[in-house]
Amino acid sequence: IHRIAEIRLNDKFGIEPVLGNDVWDWQEALAEYSDPGFAEKGQLTVTYLTDAHRACAQRISAWMRDCGFDEVFIDAVGNVVGRYHPAAPDGRYLLTGSHYDTVRNGGKYDGRLGIFVPMASVRELHRAGRRLPFGIEVVAFAEEEGQRYKATFLGSGALIGDFEPEWLEQQDADGITMRAAMLHAGLNPDDIPAIERDPSRYLGFVEVHIEQGPVLNELDLPLGVVTSINAGERYFCEMTGMASHAGTTPMNRRRDAAMAVAELALYAEQRAARDGDSVATIGQWEVPNGSINVVPGRCLFSLDMRAPTDAQRDALVADVLAELEAITARRGVHCSWERAMSGSAAPSHPAWQQRWERAVEALGLPVLRLPSGAGHDARKLHAIMPQAMLFVRGLNAGISHNPLESTTADDMQLAVDAFTHVLNQLSEQ
Ligand code: GLV
Ligand code: MN
Ligand code: MN
Ligand code: MN
Repeated sequence: IHRIAEIRLNDKFGIEPVLGNDVWDWQEALAEYSDPGFAEKGQLTVTYLTDAHRACAQRISAWMRDCGFDEVFIDAVGNVVGRYHPAAPDGRYLLTGSHYDTVRNGGKYDGRLGIFVPMASVRELHRAGRRLPFGIEVVAFAEEEGQRYKATFLGSGALIGDFEPEWLEQQDADGITMRAAMLHAGLNPDDIPAIERDPSRYLGFVEVHIEQGPVLNELDLPLGVVTSINAGERYFCEMTGMASHAGTTPMNRRRDAAMAVAELALYAEQRAARDGDSVATIGQWEVPNGSINVVPGRCLFSLDMRAPTDAQRDALVADVLAELEAITARRGVHCSWERAMSGSAAPSHPAWQQRWERAVEALGLPVLRLPSGAGHDARKLHAIMPQAMLFVRGLNAGISHNPLESTTADDMQLAVDAFTHVLNQLSEQ
């Protein structure tokens, strides 16, 4: 248990509630919702527009109303939006938030922490009856993880006008189109273009996120300031060979689709490792209708490749795809692929990064700057406005996309304090 005491002394030795506990409780309460097939096993899985996902959106909306946001609504793509109005009606907004969907059997904090930290901060403003010269818009993004459909970053993508109507025809594993899922959830996909934000109405975008890596934990630091988000690219691929009898097909006559993927996987691993800071992952790898006595005729697999710069990622992708060509030619198999995502590296905006640095300093903590290997909604918003992220330490060596993902209410409290400090800096400008 990493929850902390209910109260603390503030600078003036008055007693104040500890917000980190509320963030903790919201995390726990939201983690009660999970998709069928996972809920029964006590695993956390919330994928786009399932019943659990819709329940999360309703719950977040209710909490936002309780916190004193002036406007709370669910938009056409399923984002939960809370607006705390500025002192003057024509004031601009600070945009912040993160996603509430999860990977399969994921952790409680990935994404959600970046919704609850600003929510706690807004609640304190509301309690104090305080308005800032700018408004605060917290968005709980509906989809970032790319689990149910091939298209991903649907929530933050919609805010920058990056939502292709053809994605609506994509099907999930059960053949349900994205359009049908939206209509079932009471969303109107025709309204998605209207979600696009006008950047002139915003100061910028900040996102709080659990680090999802070992750095802060190893250095025993609760907070870190992000310098840049890595570039990434994702592919869904289908290798086709020839299914044949496992007992009678000699090794040199096989056109084994899965072995071709195996060869590619080992190449991708070595090629990414050569860079030192690139990564390549085949996270899905399936022989549909495979049998113990049949040489695989088909193999479906995914390919995720990331690097700190676009150029380094492009070189990695080019080498892996060239090797794929060579392997398929040599083995007499064929591979078709579709690129499901391509995200440019997103360096933090210097002035915004500095605001996080000042906030961390003000908490009496050393400033640790680090890049983000994971993708984030901030990478999307980067296309239209300045952005910078704050990382919160993860325990258990920072493991993430795993149920062991963990942090503490103390660290959540520090994140709320840092966020509030950024609000104060912006108010004084
Ligand atoms: C999503 O969480 C990603 O970084 O791949
Ligand atoms: Mn994630
Ligand atoms: Mn995330
Ligand atoms: Mn991510």
